[in-house]
Amino acid sequence: MKILSGIQPTGRFHWGNYFGAIRQYIELQGNEQSYYFIADLHALTTVREPNVLRQNVADSALDLLALGLKPDQATLFRQSDVPEVTELTWLLMTITQMHLLEKCHAYKDKKAKGLAADAGLFTYPVLMAADILIYDSNVVPVGLDQVQHIEVTRDLAQRFNSMYGDDCFVLPDAHVLDHSAKVPGTDGEKMSKSYNNTIPLFETPKKLKKIINKITTDSTPVEAPKNPDTCAVFNLYKLFATDEQLAALADRYRAGGMGYGEAKGALYDAAMEYFGPAFDLRADLEQRPDDVEDILIQGARTARAKAREVVERVRTACGLAAKP
Ligand code: TYM
Repeated sequence: MKILSGIQPTGRFHWGNYFGAIRQYIELQGNEQSYYFIADLHALTTVREPNVLRQNVADSALDLLALGLKPDQATLFRQSDVPEVTELTWLLMTITQMHLLEKCHAYKDKKAKGLAADAGLFTYPVLMAADILIYDSNVVPVGLDQVQHIEVTRDLAQRFNSMYGDDCFVLPDAHVLDHSAKVPGTDGEKMSKSYNNTIPLFETPKKLKKIINKITTDSTPVEAPKNPDTCAVFNLYKLFATDEQLAALADRYRAGGMGYGEAKGALYDAAMEYFGPAFDLRADLEQRPDDVEDILIQGARTARAKAREVVERVRTACGLAAKP
């Protein structure tokens, strides 16, 4: 399997990013080809302060390594360190039908709100298609919100192949986890930076407690039985707990006599235990910024060699001269 996925450095990673995507990156590393990149070119459509972008990229690399990406099993790199991807974006753009992009949600949502979208946002899915196709990737681990983009990628690859030859592009498939394709935020809606409902991965214990305490619950009195299935706290607890722990907490809900504070306490403890080792590893990596940069540079070298090979193949297929 040739695995590839990307994540935008647009702010701090949250539980949705981890349980929807990053956890899959870690499970799938060590495959024939496991490429993961920090999508700084995509982030340019929203982050317009150079220092903030630089810092976000550095933090993203630290986070991914601390969470368990291993440079000897996965290739980690910055998207912009492989400039061939922008060349392939153009080649794909020449065959992209407008209607395909008009229905993509990032652009559609912005337009629905009456906001002006720039061409970068509109053509964002084409850059994403290039990200995937340029490494001959066939499996793309993502959360549910990215599945539409992978369908666009398949459409573009198929169209290009039917014009220029079936061996141009490999068709990729999205890889989505059943239980965490759409992790809920503190208000029960999809966790997302744009909804202001995220729980950051690397949060101080004090702030984490505060955020968890703010998770929206209903006003069922303490003594009354409660429904775990409709409770945002319980749904988040599912991400961490074993079947037994889950059954035990569900019983507490149904029996009555348990306040939501107790469930929030259980969630906090579970999260601290789960992410504890990553905190320690991150603190250690933070002392070694040069090592982290080396990992990114080495990763880009590996990824770029593959990207060059694919771009060369595609250039030839569509009638461009081989690169001098
Ligand atoms: P981004 O940066 O918004 O999100 C990174 C990953 O996190 C997943 N995710 C979630 N999963 C479950 N529940 C949630 N609440 C949740 N929130 C976020 C996303 O689905 C994603 O997998 N366009 C991409 C970045 C990208 C990319 C690519 C991905 C650029 N090129 C090529 C795959 C392949 C994005 O904005 O993800």
